[in-house]
Amino acid sequence: MADLPKHVVLLTECYTLEQHSRFVIYLSPIAGSAPTNRGYPITNLRLCYQTVEFGEIDIHLCTLRDRQEFYDPVGAAEKLGICDASWPLFGVLWPSSLVLAHFIQDFDTGSKRVLEIGCGMALTSLLLNKQHADITATDYHPEAQTFLDRNTLLNEDRDIAFELVDWAGESDTLGLFDLIIGSDILYEDGHVKLLASFIDEHANPACEVVIVDPGRGRKNKLSTALVEYGFTSSHHKPEHTDYLNEDFKGYILQFER
Ligand SMILES: C[S@@+](CC[C@H](N)C(=O)[O-])C[C@H]1O[C@@H](n2cnc3c(N)ncnc32)[C@H](O)[C@@H]1O
Repeated sequence: MADLPKHVVLLTECYTLEQHSRFVIYLSPIAGSAPTNRGYPITNLRLCYQTVEFGEIDIHLCTLRDRQEFYDPVGAAEKLGICDASWPLFGVLWPSSLVLAHFIQDFDTGSKRVLEIGCGMALTSLLLNKQHADITATDYHPEAQTFLDRNTLLNEDRDIAFELVDWAGESDTLGLFDLIIGSDILYEDGHVKLLASFIDEHANPACEVVIVDPGRGRKNKLSTALVEYGFTSSHHKPEHTDYLNEDFKGYILQFER
């Protein structure tokens, strides 16, 4: 840092989503114009790095810095119906994703084909990939795959299959799965019906479903909908959540048929 001008006070990473490349730049609080890097536009999207430990396994993650970040220059997210306020939701690590990953850590996935829905930063997919499970991650956010690929690289693991999928969509090439997982994906009323039908369409005749819900008040509605599709339903609290900073008020929802 000794060679830097005195007015340079903040080191951050800015990320051009269009180019999927990484730049480290020094932001000056007195800079008068938008920074550029060799003529390419640079966003002020700020990122954060962390490592989540699962016993001996470390999962490294690059996420958005917080839920204030936003970058949709060509309206790709807007076209998919993702409003400005919802844009960053995919890009941070939600407590439910930690609960899901810790629960799945000891789950015997064996040769099961596993699908993560609404994966966001895809912590559980990254963990399962590290454990050599057959995992496919999905989300409808246009930048989800960029972060997934980047984090897979960060963990020096093989690529994770990904498909950009909207639960409301009618055509995807995912096929059927033996285990379907997701965390914090019941945050709008419309999600219950969409998710139940999406899960039914992607579940093998024998299939397990694990959804972690932080207590957003829609778990019973999802259970009712999935029971109509032939699943049995049970809810339980995680054994402990010592890895979270706050109490977890939610449940692990398990469905089977
Ligand atoms: C609150 S975030 C949770 C992300 C991640 N599962 C976690 O727990 O950290 C909700 C996720 O669901 C995704 N999502 C919301 N609506 C969706 C839809 N209709 N189809 C597919 N994914 C959707 C969002 O893009 C976002 O990644």
